[in-house]
Amino acid sequence: MATLPGRRSVAKFLVGGTALAIFAACTAPARPVPSSSSGSKPGTTAAAAPGADGPPAGASVSGESTAPSPQPAGGAPSPAASPVHALTATFSLTDPSSPWVLVNKHHPLNPVGYEPPDLVQPQVVLGSGGETALLRVEAADAAGRMFAAAAAAGAAMTLLSSYRSYDTQLALYNNYVAGFGSDDADTKSARAGYSEHQTGLALDIGDAGGACAFDPCFAEQPAAAWAAGNCHRFGFIVRYQLGKDGMTGFFAEPWHLRYVGVEVATDLVAKGYGSYEEYLGLEPAPAYL
Ligand code: DAL
Ligand code: ZN
Repeated sequence: MATLPGRRSVAKFLVGGTALAIFAACTAPARPVPSSSSGSKPGTTAAAAPGADGPPAGASVSGESTAPSPQPAGGAPSPAASPVHALTATFSLTDPSSPWVLVNKHHPLNPVGYEPPDLVQPQVVLGSGGETALLRVEAADAAGRMFAAAAAAGAAMTLLSSYRSYDTQLALYNNYVAGFGSDDADTKSARAGYSEHQTGLALDIGDAGGACAFDPCFAEQPAAAWAAGNCHRFGFIVRYQLGKDGMTGFFAEPWHLRYVGVEVATDLVAKGYGSYEEYLGLEPAPAYL
């Protein structure tokens, strides 16, 4: 009987540039041609936005937003409670350069081949190289401070994978399909053009002890426990939480952190939301449309 590869062996392609190149060469269909980076996607609820990047300096997706109100568990919809209304600065949910961009199975990057303008290597302990060790400047700065704080607290972490281009994500996804089949792959890896990693605002962490990388048992490692309780202080959220796959489309990934800025990350945690979709009051995205 054939033995499926473990997720960790598949995920080695995250840091294996050579293997990725082979997969990309073998499997990549024609890459979509990037178009305007500022267009909104029809049907996507989003704030009108300047497209500026940076921590929301007191935000509001204001009264102009069409986003419905979030509905905390057991609570009724409350427009006044909507972060889209409560925040006082404005960032787009659809512009891929926005720190608030929503990327999920209903909302691919637009343009789908988006490339971030300001990728840098964060000052952190690297478990990865090449492009997958890069983040956008603001997220990199926040990651540097977060990793230092984690280490000081005795929960040192490593950076396993951060930015992934369209082509890198395509190779990775195809590798998951080859290992698990497409249905299972779709619960573990985003398709190319649908991954937060392509924004340069997401990163996968490991524990400095090396245990349980890209494995559910990572949740019990010191780095994961620290991140779950503290990453919002640096502007990150644990994007794929346990039991939220019906909202996010992915099983729990306690290693995947997404930069949204301190204000939104802190607000999301304070209000007890377990997914960015629920926080924004947007529809569940369990499967591709
Ligand atoms: N594993 C996450 C969902 C990604 O591929 O972006
Ligand atoms: Zn990830």
